[in-house]
Amino acid sequence: MKNRWFEVDKQGLRNLVERQGIGRLIAELVQNALDEDVTIVAVQLLPLPGRPLVALAVEDDAPEGFRNLDHAFTLFADSYKKSLPEKRGRFNLGEKLILAMCQEATIATTTGSVMFGADGDRHVRPRSRRERGSMFQADLRMSRAECDETCIYLHSLLIPNGVTVTLNGVTLSPRQPIHTFDANLETEIADDERVLRRRMRKTSIELYEPLVGETATLYELGLPVVETGDRWHLNVAQKVPLTLSRDNVPPAYLRNLRTFVLNEMHDRLTTEDVNTVWVQQATCDDACSPEAIRTFLDRRFGDHRAAYDPTDPEANKAIQADGGTIITSRMLKKEQWQKAKEAGAIHPAGKIKPTAKPYSLDPNAPSADVILPADWTNAMRTIASYAVFLAKELMDVDLIVMMVRTTNNFAACYGQGRLDLNLFRLGHRWFEQGASESVDALLLHEFGHEFSGDHLSSDFHDALCRLGARLKRLALEKPEAFRAFTR
Ligand SMILES: Nc1ncnc2c1ncn2[C@@H]1O[C@H](COP(=O)(O)OP(=O)(O)OP(=O)(O)O)[C@@H](O)[C@H]1O
Ligand SMILES: [Mg+2]
Repeated sequence: MKNRWFEVDKQGLRNLVERQGIGRLIAELVQNALDEDVTIVAVQLLPLPGRPLVALAVEDDAPEGFRNLDHAFTLFADSYKKSLPEKRGRFNLGEKLILAMCQEATIATTTGSVMFGADGDRHVRPRSRRERGSMFQADLRMSRAECDETCIYLHSLLIPNGVTVTLNGVTLSPRQPIHTFDANLETEIADDERVLRRRMRKTSIELYEPLVGETATLYELGLPVVETGDRWHLNVAQKVPLTLSRDNVPPAYLRNLRTFVLNEMHDRLTTEDVNTVWVQQATCDDACSPEAIRTFLDRRFGDHRAAYDPTDPEANKAIQADGGTIITSRMLKKEQWQKAKEAGAIHPAGKIKPTAKPYSLDPNAPSADVILPADWTNAMRTIASYAVFLAKELMDVDLIVMMVRTTNNFAACYGQGRLDLNLFRLGHRWFEQGASESVDALLLHEFGHEFSGDHLSSDFHDALCRLGARLKRLALEKPEAFRAFTR
């Protein structure tokens, strides 16, 4: 039973769809042809001399033509393509939108012809049939500028293999994808009740290099949906979830797609790409692969990078001094940190370039072997007394000197008025030189730690300057005292 609830106001429909751009609306006709078994689709757009009109014709060679001629003028009839994910049509609307833009139009196909007259009448001629294929002809009110824009738009279509599309007799050049891969993506397919439902389905995705002047765009089976501004055009080989106006996809769908592209293409990422919306989105996505996040971090920070380490301030500086990058928390989004952590792609500075710690912090580590004063050589005694003398004079510190023997990686260490000298690293000959310049150098370095533990801090640097200056004055004031320690 036919339901007669609705009437369509053609002018009202025209006013609503006009803003979509005439090029996109004409593309509805190309879309319909490409959904059929065509080998050639010929588009003609000829401005009529002296009038603001363009004669439009779209002709194809599909053997079957319109299966149901009524669908040429019935909005929202059940499109047979709803259950076919690799065909573009679903709403049974597109061709009516372009009709709304026309002054008069004719559709001639294998099942008959329909004339849409300027008087507002529709004439169906079931007997006026074509052998094969369909032809849509109409006069469209269009400015020259709109006509040029439409041609540019049609040149942006991605023509499927095996089909030739011409515009005013010139073949639209087919493009070669730079890469193709498969992924599971949401599509729309009619269920048993003919209701369109979202479903995951494996499909192929083609990537194209945008031509000069083009903005990267998301395509559904060769037809532009929405400009993304990403690095490449993305062409999905199945229905994408679309709004009725076919000009956008849900944000989550795009994000998903971008992540697949990043996972697949991260090798080609440049330093310019890292701050783009699509890469930022993809690197925050749960599905971003460890390899992709690693490449992202390489391009953004270089491969000599570390996370800021509050437990080892000196390590942060040492890495920067080496030309590395210290990444602080605000330089990455929370999700990117999480991904980087899972991939083991960023380590704390203190792990990468740990600042030497004289003794292990591990309570179970073997303790250093302390050499009792009774076992010190005379040379060791001299150096110890010299250190005590200098600490008192230069810093007013009552120094305690320990002689130790440990395989730990330090020659001497200082902290809180205690100086440890490691015989294992220094060797007896070092002690035998008396208060030489190299002994002074070592003691001044260690005394610097009275003021700062961080070798790369300005506190440490300033302390060394002060200690050196004081040492000179002391040597001038008490040369005899020094002589007692020299050999
Ligand atoms: N060139 C063509 N060859 C064969 N059939 C066609 C052609 N153009 C249109 N049709 C038929 O007319 C119907 C109406 O086209 P229309 O573009 O309005 O809807 P659709 O393609 O099904 O869905 P959508 O609104 O999503 O494009 C199509 O479903 C198809 O059956
Ligand atoms: Mg269509």
